[in-house]
Amino acid sequence: MKQNSRLDQILDRTLLFSFTSVGYGLRKGNFKPLPRIEGRRIVVTGATSGLGLVAARELADLGAAVVLVGRNQVKAEEAARQIQRITGNEAISVELADLSLMAETRALADRLTAGPPIDALINNAGVLVAARTETSEGLELTLATNLLSHYVLTETVLPHIKDGGRIINVSSGGMYSQRIRPADLQFKTGEYTGTAAYARTKRGQVILTEIWAESLADRGITVSAMHPGWSDTPGVSDSLPTFSKLIGPLLRSPEEGADTMVWLASTEEEVPSGKFWLDRTPRPTHMTDKTKERPEDRVALVEGLRRLAEL
Ligand SMILES: NC(=O)c1ccc[n+]([C@@H]2O[C@H](COP(=O)([O-])OP(=O)(O)OC[C@H]3O[C@@H](n4cnc5c(N)ncnc54)[C@H](OP(=O)(O)O)[C@@H]3O)[C@@H](O)[C@H]2O)c1
Repeated sequence: MKQNSRLDQILDRTLLFSFTSVGYGLRKGNFKPLPRIEGRRIVVTGATSGLGLVAARELADLGAAVVLVGRNQVKAEEAARQIQRITGNEAISVELADLSLMAETRALADRLTAGPPIDALINNAGVLVAARTETSEGLELTLATNLLSHYVLTETVLPHIKDGGRIINVSSGGMYSQRIRPADLQFKTGEYTGTAAYARTKRGQVILTEIWAESLADRGITVSAMHPGWSDTPGVSDSLPTFSKLIGPLLRSPEEGADTMVWLASTEEEVPSGKFWLDRTPRPTHMTDKTKERPEDRVALVEGLRRLAEL
């Protein structure tokens, strides 16, 4: 594992450079080539667009048997065809599920556990929506998609993940701005702001990563959260058009954004469990004490998710 260099520590304090292609460009010189991972079964959610699509393609290129999880059949099948054509890897399959719906998430988990054991699960699907929206199950959409479905999917497939396997939660640097609020997981109080709701779900992913890392240590399962930086994807241009235009040419390419995801799923380098990664290096999980949760908040988060998921 690479230690933070002095340059990296300075970069870390300047979000504009750290999170953009400038940061990636300055750090990538230390990156080692990725190993072949022939036949490893890797499940990627949100594999039909942006970072998930690139990560799935690159993992397929390394030889993995990739399961693409998408919600749109046409898009998912086109993604599979595209990946097979580019990589020559035929071991690409598609699973359909709208992850904002827990019934579909549970059905997906059941299908996955009926198949061969899983080497790595990448919880990548995510949304940032402008207005508070409820799903047909009465769940707030951002919470359901970005956090609750990851919780349900991961908890349900856990017995089917190989000992020594990996779980990768695609979080965001946005989580630095928010503290978890377990008493209001569905954003019912106060004015709804899409970016704040998004950031709180991303904070929740980081907390779950730490909790799972501890509980799964005896099975040798490595659990990681990662931050892709600011990357040029349909998700960013659709949800944050002004930001996307403002940062413009400094945005990372999807390949640069997905790099740490692919590295975490494939590397033979030492990866300590429970960390938050950007550019193959663990980063702090807080920039201010204001976002730090208490131990009882962590317990309340898991209880709240369990209750909402009706597990
Ligand atoms: N790009 C960045 O700069 C950035 C920065 C920080 C964090 N992230 C995180 O990185 C992840 C990928 O983002 P991206 O930028 O690649 O966005 P994207 O291009 O919008 O891709 C998001 C993926 O999630 C899927 N998805 C969304 N809602 C879903 C649902 N209800 N059920 C199933 N799948 C669903 C989308 O499916 P469809 O193709 O059907 O829409 C798509 O495949 C997200 O978790 C995001 O929060 C991205």
